Amino acid sequence: MDRRDGISAQARAQGIIPDLSGKRSSNVKVSVAGLSKSYMKGSRGERFEALRNVNLDVYSGEFLSIIGPSGSGKTTLLKCIDGIANYQAGTVTVTRDPSATSLRDRAFVFQDFGLLPWRTILANVALPLELLGMHRKEREERAMSYLRLVGLEKTAKDHPHELSGGMRQRVGLARALAVDPDVLLMDEPLGALDEQTREVMQAEILRICGTGRTVIFVTHSVDEAIFVSDRVVVMSNSPGHIKAIFTVDIPKPRTQLATRAHPRFSELREAIWAELGVTTTLNPHA
Ligand SMILES: Nc1ncnc2c1ncn2[C@@H]1O[C@H](COP(=O)(O)OP(=O)(O)OP(=O)(O)O)[C@@H](O)[C@H]1O
Ligand SMILES: [Mg+2]
Repeated sequence: MDRRDGISAQARAQGIIPDLSGKRSSNVKVSVAGLSKSYMKGSRGERFEALRNVNLDVYSGEFLSIIGPSGSGKTTLLKCIDGIANYQAGTVTVTRDPSATSLRDRAFVFQDFGLLPWRTILANVALPLELLGMHRKEREERAMSYLRLVGLEKTAKDHPHELSGGMRQRVGLARALAVDPDVLLMDEPLGALDEQTREVMQAEILRICGTGRTVIFVTHSVDEAIFVSDRVVVMSNSPGHIKAIFTVDIPKPRTQLATRAHPRFSELREAIWAELGVTTTLNPHA
């Protein structure tokens, strides 16, 4: 293991991971250095090490996915980047562009959407703007424009229970986008969707978020990670750490069919599965 950037020698030997150290350093948006985080567990207050020495630079405008087994610290890492979780060692730096127009530099899209059931869809999207002190008319107009962006303007007066899972997820996305964050943190945002809706949403997320915004996206799907990402980070557990980083050298804009048909898709798929400890090639002689 290369201690400097946490990339395994095996992955580097496969030629799949370019050595990014030193390159594009002026363009780093989020820098995680030497991050270690423990939780207190049990009645005796034992420490549980969730992340150990995580080093990761995320570049401005990059779409980066994080994949790894359950418990490998993906959510914990996102929370540390968002600033809603503390940590015992290391640093997390988010560089703010002085010309940025964003109302908040970071926004989080939760796996369970986190919508308030008693609020209308419009009022849910407007909530972060309300918390920022924006006047009612302005925040409702702004919330409406983001609902329009995700194709849900007709649901503005509905309540969350009246929408499908996919629609609720898009509301969660609109709410995060409404503050125009420089960095969008998404924790398994498509996990609850059926496969068809999920593929439509993957393309939607690329269309909506893939325009200069920096996105850190947690998923359990290797195919999804490859389709949406510029790079894929593979995490491993006990304690959580970065095992490998893959660059997805498939041109953008992407469509599902063309991406899956691209020769690099299956190579990357196999390499990522191998890092996850699963071999996908069937042995015809077995
Ligand atoms: N608030 C907490 N208190 C104690 N332990 C926690 C807490 N949150 C997470 N953990 C532990 O830290 C480890 C990493 O959790 P985390 O939620 O970051 O994993 P994950 O990679 O997101 O998993 P999943 O894929 O299941 O969502 C797990 O072992 C979990 O039990
Ligand atoms: Mg998680």
